[in-house]
Amino acid sequence: MESSVPTQIPGQNAILIGTDWYPEQWPESRWEEDLRLMEAAHLKVVRIAEFAWSTMEPSEGRYEFGWLDRAIALAAKHHIVSVLGTPTAGPPAWLTQKYPETLRIDENGRRATHGIRAHGSSSSPRYRELCRRIAEQMAIHFGRNPNVVGWQIDNEYGYALMSYDDITRKQFQDWLQAKYKTLENLNTRWTTSYWSQTYDNWAEIPIPGESHNPGLRLDWKRFTTYTWSAYQQNQIDVIRKHADPRQFITGNFMGFFDGFDHYLISEPLTFASWDDYVGTGHVDPIANGLTHDLTRGFKKQNFWVIETQPGAVNWSNINNFQNRGEARAMAWQAIGHGADDVNYWQWRSALNGQEEIHGVLVGPDGTPVPFLEEVSQTAGEFDKAQNAFRGTVPVSEVALLYSYESHWAVQYQKHTEKYDDIALLKSYYGALRPLAQSIDVVSPYAPLDGYKLVVAPNLNVLPKDLADHLLAYVHNGGHLVLGPRSAMKDEFNSLLPQRQPGFLIDALGARVEQYYALEKDFPISGALGSGVATVWAEQLKTNAPDAQVLLKYGKSNGWLDDQAAFVTRPYGKGRITYIGAILDDKLTSAAAQWMAKESGIAPVFGPVPDGVEVSRRVGEGKQVFVLVNYAPEAREVTLPHAMKAVLADRPVENVSLPPYGVEVLLSTK
Ligand code: GAL
Repeated sequence: MESSVPTQIPGQNAILIGTDWYPEQWPESRWEEDLRLMEAAHLKVVRIAEFAWSTMEPSEGRYEFGWLDRAIALAAKHHIVSVLGTPTAGPPAWLTQKYPETLRIDENGRRATHGIRAHGSSSSPRYRELCRRIAEQMAIHFGRNPNVVGWQIDNEYGYALMSYDDITRKQFQDWLQAKYKTLENLNTRWTTSYWSQTYDNWAEIPIPGESHNPGLRLDWKRFTTYTWSAYQQNQIDVIRKHADPRQFITGNFMGFFDGFDHYLISEPLTFASWDDYVGTGHVDPIANGLTHDLTRGFKKQNFWVIETQPGAVNWSNINNFQNRGEARAMAWQAIGHGADDVNYWQWRSALNGQEEIHGVLVGPDGTPVPFLEEVSQTAGEFDKAQNAFRGTVPVSEVALLYSYESHWAVQYQKHTEKYDDIALLKSYYGALRPLAQSIDVVSPYAPLDGYKLVVAPNLNVLPKDLADHLLAYVHNGGHLVLGPRSAMKDEFNSLLPQRQPGFLIDALGARVEQYYALEKDFPISGALGSGVATVWAEQLKTNAPDAQVLLKYGKSNGWLDDQAAFVTRPYGKGRITYIGAILDDKLTSAAAQWMAKESGIAPVFGPVPDGVEVSRRVGEGKQVFVLVNYAPEAREVTLPHAMKAVLADRPVENVSLPPYGVEVLLSTK
């Protein structure tokens, strides 16, 4: 089991708390005090150097790593391991001055200037060469350092910003040529006879903007994924060449940020990480839990929260502070959902720079801010819980499918400004999570056996190979639930020459006759109760005697009156269900209950009061539950059987949780 959990560093604790530390911003004489304070607060990890290029290579080819050796060694003296970031999100001034072609050009043709970040062009061969050089020098120097446990490539991958220059356009055209082989093929797939778009040579193909062909636009997104993957691989190759295989390689992603396909970009990484910021307001446990599960699904394994908010950020509309106890609740929620590390960004504010007044653990005077107390308490609890979490991973019977291609396809042609596929995903997640208490969010192409229920709220792009994959799952006994707008498009973002749900019509025994963007809600009712369809409605028609209609529209626009909205049918050893409308919250919840019952889903822990979130991690001969109370009042939880309360350190049958209260329960049953 241990080896299947790569984020649990051998010889280190199973779950870690750390911080993002910038020793290059401070005199060396200060470091020891920083590290002493970190150690006293039970911090175990620092992520360092991801913006320190100008300090590591002050002029071309002159590498200065001595300071970093000393910082890493000093951290180790305080029992803190280091994760090294490659500094390629912040190329130094000498570099961009000497090689201006490394600077990104925006959509309006303006070249980025020095002094911001993410200003390098990920497609520039020169920039790639320079990135490779610094990453390689770092790997040669630190690749065997026992106190360096891993690497982060770049930082938030330049927000996936592309350079709109001639080199990039040519690379895109070459990429298209490699994919389509002939222009005739490309012209057919994109239906370029429409609006006289036909291309006669590859060089005519533009980088798309918002009003371009949907096929071209989807391919540009794929090319963006390809570009950033290659940018990442360029550094991974040299790190892997020189570094001890024990050192992991990760990238820090940004939740539902959709600049590229995260399943693909995560492939070569040891594990995925993400930066979990609340911004204005307070944590929404459903949205945050969903995003943890999304990140876990990139590689279907545990992950890191390599940055999180230390109270407040500096970039939101209102940079309010988290309530007391909220960050601790969030840290434990992360662990419950499969994180093995939580790092606070950042340790201490730089005295100048764009993020002067961002939240920190230590103030500009070098002494702890009150928030550090909560971090220290949480980190102390992590210490206590090490053994319980060693070798554990979340295990789910329910999967939600999330596809970047479908997301982009719907975004390009929303049909109603109100259509929000991520909100729809979240509404199903919110309804199903309490019923299952563990959900995986995975790519539609992920292996699905093992799941009793698979819900795909937005599978707009559903080509034949994917339909076959899903049908095999249903055939073998799974329950597949499709949401509105499913199976309308093929992989070229062309309409399928069938009605929805395309290649699944026969299995469902029903099809979509017509779809409607709604300017107002329409009544809907049936075996699942009554309520309204909102934003979107599809009129379904069954053509198989065993296709059952569970919801119908009431009197609405004439077309939908008394028509089917929700169809389900047994197929093979399993079942396929199609929900053609966006349902209100009450009906979504009724639908989720029906799905759970029909698919034999039971909560992994058992019932808990409203506002309490339960998560489970499973290891050899044990289960660990994390309970977090998000309700504004205290909650009493009755356990299904006696367990060990790990934080309270005693056997319990009931747990009382104050607001933001947490308990970790170990069961060896
Ligand atoms: C992250 C970024 C960090 C820091 C932080 C501030 O997105 O990776 O470098 O800027 O935001 O909230």
